[in-house]
Amino acid sequence: MATLWGGRFEGETDALVWAFNQSLPFDRRLWRADIRGSIAHARMLARQGIIAPEEGEALVGGLQSLEADLASGAATLPEEAEDIHSAIEAMLRERVGTVAGKLHTARSRNDQVATDVRLWLKDESAALREELARLRALLVEMAEANIDLVLPGRTHHQHAQPIRLAHHLLAYFWMLSRDDGRFADAARRADALPLGAGALAGTPFPIDREFVAAELGFSSLCENSLDAVADRDFAIEFCAAAALLMQHLSRLAEEIVLWSAPEFGFVELADAVTTGSSIMPQKKNPDVAELIRGKTGRVYGDLFTLLTLLKGLVLAYNKDMQEDKEPLFDACDTARTCVSLMTRLLAGAKFRPDVMRAALRGDFSTATDLADALASGAGVPFREAHEVVGRLVRECLLQGTILENLTLDDLRRHDARFPENALAAITPEASADARGSRGGTGREAIFEQIVRARSVLEGAAAAVPPP
Ligand code: ARG
Repeated sequence: MATLWGGRFEGETDALVWAFNQSLPFDRRLWRADIRGSIAHARMLARQGIIAPEEGEALVGGLQSLEADLASGAATLPEEAEDIHSAIEAMLRERVGTVAGKLHTARSRNDQVATDVRLWLKDESAALREELARLRALLVEMAEANIDLVLPGRTHHQHAQPIRLAHHLLAYFWMLSRDDGRFADAARRADALPLGAGALAGTPFPIDREFVAAELGFSSLCENSLDAVADRDFAIEFCAAAALLMQHLSRLAEEIVLWSAPEFGFVELADAVTTGSSIMPQKKNPDVAELIRGKTGRVYGDLFTLLTLLKGLVLAYNKDMQEDKEPLFDACDTARTCVSLMTRLLAGAKFRPDVMRAALRGDFSTATDLADALASGAGVPFREAHEVVGRLVRECLLQGTILENLTLDDLRRHDARFPENALAAITPEASADARGSRGGTGREAIFEQIVRARSVLEGAAAAVPPP
């Protein structure tokens, strides 16, 4: 295989070394970005008079036909090429002849690869954000559709206070919205053009970096040529955002696994997103949720691979950096697939209001409301009210009874100051609705939250560039 650096060498490269050094098997997916970058570069070279106008036309025409043929499948990448940059250049040479050799004027693979990865990542992060916007919109829709479902809210995994299902779903909406913000933020910093940095020191040719940036849709330029070719912080930021996103999805996935288990039975998952067992005929397994939970580990791994890869590397480019691609691609693919599958999983989920409601019966999760009734209705200091209700709960447990069975007389035997309406306050619905503070689980507060969520969603959707 012809290399881009043969001149200095006399002997052949060892076959194992060739394979070890080769990145085409994984960087091939950068082909579109590589061609785009080269077209912009060729245009700039001609515009600046660095190459002749007809040479520029030949290069751009050749690259455009190559792009069309690769897209249609009429052309395929030469498998033996060292990397995507050599592959594209070799294919261009076949089409346009020796003028292909002029494309690399004022450019190095170091600034070329940094440009390719940023271009690729900008598109991928826009696509991921669109997928994420669909999941966020679904959570809001589901919250609205299930506004009257209550279930036990938990702390320490024990029943704590009744909450609306909508509240639970919206909690994930806000987490995922912050993830969206982190991707937007990372994309903003990836949006600077490295091309023009050359191998590391810049170039003596009179290039026009602003023109190339405008052609490629970069809103700024990397200001230091060493930094431009040596850092991959934009890739790390993306992976960090992906790791957090996966953490959020993983928590939701765990809840789906639990909620679909018979002891909970809060949700029934659709056949299309579950699988069976080869031995136990009764099984319907939440594999998709489990896999989302499991794949979180690999995205954390991707982030750690990148952090470790760059640690202690001297400036500027080092071949170690070729290893940045697989983890970045993997984090991107995994996060996007998991978001899309979580959307499917939730879209087909059937909640069971009766089972959720039954889980609240006799669980003492409205004991706080009894204490609140004493505190707000009779002016009893909350600490004292808490003590009174604590004793009451203990007695119920000793007698094998539940709050729902108590009469006002029972309450007043513990404390004569219980107000008339104390029992009315302890239904799960009344308990949830009492929490009407902003961000709380009361019906009206949830509606307000839905309105806020929708306006965030609309703002965020507008910020997503078209694919
Ligand atoms: N395949 C290489 C990479 O991904 C391209 C840059 C090669 N640069 C070099 N100086 N060998 O990092």
